[in-house]
Amino acid sequence: MGSLAVDLFGKTLKNPVMNASGTLGYGVEIEPLWPVETMGAYVTKGLSAAPHHGNPTPRVWEERSGMINSIGLQNVGVDRFFSHYFPFFVERRCPVIVNFFGFSEEEYLSCAKSIEPHDLIVALEMNLSCPNIKKGGISFGKEASAVHAIVRAVRGVTKLPLIAKLTPEVKNLVEIARAAYEGGADGLTLINTVPAAAVDVKNRKVPLKGGLSGPLLKPVALRAVHECSQAVPIPVIGVGGIMNTGDALEFLMAGARAVQVGTATFVDPFAMPKIIAGLDCWLDASGCADISAIVGATHG
Ligand code: SIN
Repeated sequence: MGSLAVDLFGKTLKNPVMNASGTLGYGVEIEPLWPVETMGAYVTKGLSAAPHHGNPTPRVWEERSGMINSIGLQNVGVDRFFSHYFPFFVERRCPVIVNFFGFSEEEYLSCAKSIEPHDLIVALEMNLSCPNIKKGGISFGKEASAVHAIVRAVRGVTKLPLIAKLTPEVKNLVEIARAAYEGGADGLTLINTVPAAAVDVKNRKVPLKGGLSGPLLKPVALRAVHECSQAVPIPVIGVGGIMNTGDALEFLMAGARAVQVGTATFVDPFAMPKIIAGLDCWLDASGCADISAIVGATHG
């Protein structure tokens, strides 16, 4: 039997599959269907220093090629997550990546500072890329100098490994990736959703503007992973339209150390366990002893 285990920031994850932030609630919701520790790590919904209500409805829109969301970063706040939900992951020994954001540099710093290191916390994932809020988030993620400055500032207040989650909505993503690395990021998550709109012909309205996710995004994300993983010497986590085992393999071969699954879970709540089982079968069938051996295998 081959090994699905991957090393990420000094920790060993049992497999390279995790949820994309915000697509698996607070983890407890999936438990009636499959054990959360089936995944290599659970990624939290984006947390902020204070709780946040998010945007009015409608917030999601199904598209032929995926979905558009504009949740507006609704979350219970970082303190509530740790007092109320984190014990669930401790009980199950499930590694956690804490996604967080701020509406200002001060809010990023205060949120990062408040998160104590714990043996189950793999890393903090800084959201520099939400398309659904007017200030903060994406405004930090679009300029290399702003990315460098915010990552450096957060780097200064936490000892936890720091991942920058980036938007593809920039002129030169490789330049932004380098800025994150030079600012002190230990890893990158590529990519967040791309700005999109839905049109309701019957009512002659634009019911939703938000971030597009799903299969349409996959080639865009693969290019980002492929180029950025060659440009910076830190692990890249690939996300964007991964619907099945074949898609996950493409991301790993393009250079991703791990992958995140988002929209697929809305189509099939068992998508993640199926992808993990599929990777296991692929290892056996291909005679590959270790999934890490295929990371960046297309680079040669
Ligand atoms: C949201 O909460 O609006 C989505 C978060 C994101 O896309 O970063």
